[in-house]
Amino acid sequence: MTQVQAHKRADELRRLIGYHDYRYYVLDDPEVPDAEYDRLMRELETIETRNPELVTAQSPTQRVSGTPMEGFETVQHRVPMLSLANAFSDQEVTDFHRRVTQGLECKDITFAAEPKLDGVAISLTYINGSLVTAASRGDGERGENVTANVRTIRTVPLKLHAKGWPSLLEVRGEIYMPRAGFDRFNQKALERGEKPLVNPRNGAAGSLRQLDPQLTARRPLAFFAYGTASRDQLPETQFETLSQLKEWGFPVNPEIRRVKGLGGCLDYHAQMAARRPRLGYDIDGVVYKVDRYDQQGFLGFISKAPRWALAHKFPAEEELTRLLDIDIQVGRTGALTPVARLQPVFVGGVTVANATLHNEDEIRRKDVRPGDWVVVRRAGDVIPEVARAIHQRRETELAEFQMPKNCPECGSAVERVESEAVARCSGGLICPAQRKHCIRHFATRKAMDIEGLGDKLVDQLVEAGMVHTVADLYSLSHEQIASLERMGNKSAEHVLGAIKASKKPSLDRLLYALGIREVGEVTAHSLAVHFKTMKALQQASKETLIEVSDVGPIVASHVAAFFQQENNRQVIQALNDAGVEGQPLQDKAGEKPLAGEVWVLTGALSMPRIQVKNLLESLGAKVTASVSAKTSTLLAGEAAGSKLAKAQKLGVSVISESDFLKYLESQGLGVS
Ligand code: IVH
Repeated sequence: MTQVQAHKRADELRRLIGYHDYRYYVLDDPEVPDAEYDRLMRELETIETRNPELVTAQSPTQRVSGTPMEGFETVQHRVPMLSLANAFSDQEVTDFHRRVTQGLECKDITFAAEPKLDGVAISLTYINGSLVTAASRGDGERGENVTANVRTIRTVPLKLHAKGWPSLLEVRGEIYMPRAGFDRFNQKALERGEKPLVNPRNGAAGSLRQLDPQLTARRPLAFFAYGTASRDQLPETQFETLSQLKEWGFPVNPEIRRVKGLGGCLDYHAQMAARRPRLGYDIDGVVYKVDRYDQQGFLGFISKAPRWALAHKFPAEEELTRLLDIDIQVGRTGALTPVARLQPVFVGGVTVANATLHNEDEIRRKDVRPGDWVVVRRAGDVIPEVARAIHQRRETELAEFQMPKNCPECGSAVERVESEAVARCSGGLICPAQRKHCIRHFATRKAMDIEGLGDKLVDQLVEAGMVHTVADLYSLSHEQIASLERMGNKSAEHVLGAIKASKKPSLDRLLYALGIREVGEVTAHSLAVHFKTMKALQQASKETLIEVSDVGPIVASHVAAFFQQENNRQVIQALNDAGVEGQPLQDKAGEKPLAGEVWVLTGALSMPRIQVKNLLESLGAKVTASVSAKTSTLLAGEAAGSKLAKAQKLGVSVISESDFLKYLESQGLGVS
């Protein structure tokens, strides 16, 4: 490539890359895949490395070219960066609206309504279409020159697009850290044992003040333009100016709307408050700006804020308060959740007195102790949580929180599987917190199949104190059931009949019905096949349990822990006393239904293959990989190929997945 060709190609590549940046960051509509973009970038880098004289400051390769600085220079803003008057209530917005309409002697005012981004204000100066300076707000008159850092932000155009921009253009906007980037950054920081960022706003502010632009470049920052310093050579309204800025290559927030009057403003506020949790970046309110520049000019300024604009804030999402104590809440599946009891505090629009602490690991990681000053966070509709403790505020030694060894609801042992963060109560059958959940599950179709005993009736029975454990179901009287609301004689009779009819389930159904953690139908079946009686299973050690196909160490420990619990044993005994007995499976020793058969699986199956294999093995079949004359049956899923052809050639019987599922159903192994 000659020097001239290299020069031309470099120009072309810069134009192309600039165009693709625009498609990606401004229009949010990339035209080419990332790989193509990367190729263009690499080609440009190669040309520039070979021809260093061709490198320009505006080249996209030069975003991260600054060297570490000693500090930031001060820049005088040509036009001061003002702030906004704040409103926290509809009344304050109403007052603002009245002032504007009275000032302009006009009732119908159009406003540009914009999200108020929670980041850092920035002023970008473009001379002849090239970015020359990026300055932080500072005191509004003078800011810091953070150009080298801002250049690393991909959504800030280095060169302007299209035509028609004034030779001097100062764009004002917000630098922010998208939530996804913030989460990813913190995840990595934690993995490396580094300190995570406190929140996206601090993340953005801190990143911008890095003295080494290389560090800023690694932070996931983004930019939205929201205005200009002067109105020269620009359209006549705020809204049109933003459209113009977009054409010139600036990302403009897609949520910005033109609204009319007070009603339009308040509606917009409500809409954005509802959309806030799903935005992907933090906003702390909305901004209303009188749209027409001539009207803005007429209204002017008061001290440091324009009279034509107002920030209507959302209630703060984070507040400081005192952690009084940590309680334990037992969920309906037995999960123990530590809950913070707080000095009540107004946050996210409501008064919060309790907040979740998630689990024991989180408490340790955040080092939160009763007595601490804590930051409580409530974003959108999410459950309030304790975000962090302010350790600097600890006045005395505070005791670390200890997870209880016994369930606060029923006293059963608390167990925690090493690989899981959640601690659980092991008293599934007797724990009041889990009672309804457990009884509902017991009655379901795949468990004891007690028709008519639905969620509603279970709730009624438990609430009336008639049923404490599943065993109590079997001593219910007709009068008791009939006395419940919406239960006539007839339905009571029906339910009682169904309860009675459920006394002799197959052992696997009974096992499944007990709701032992991680014991689904398939595992219950394997256990029933292996141990044959409830008694044998109850006495099994963890080691013998692991011998069962489909049972790993975690399931084994859940099963063993369940049967070790005295409470659970008592319920099983009570069931037994009431005549509820699991029947051994139709497994006449060595004569499992598929004993002696050799099966092969092929094609796409809706269940994991390992599960199908386990099922077949529990029915006595052997499962092999390839079709041969010895194969008895080929189970063919979707898009079966060569194995199917071979089976057909050899005359091996072929079964479709749907027929196989029907067969399983007939064996009491229905999966759905
Ligand atoms: S306009 C003269 N529009 O809020 C008006 N500001 O106190 C100047 N901000 O830190 C600001 N989103 O960076 C405007 N859509 C928006 C904004 C916005 C966030 C920030 C701004 C400044 C503060 C204003």
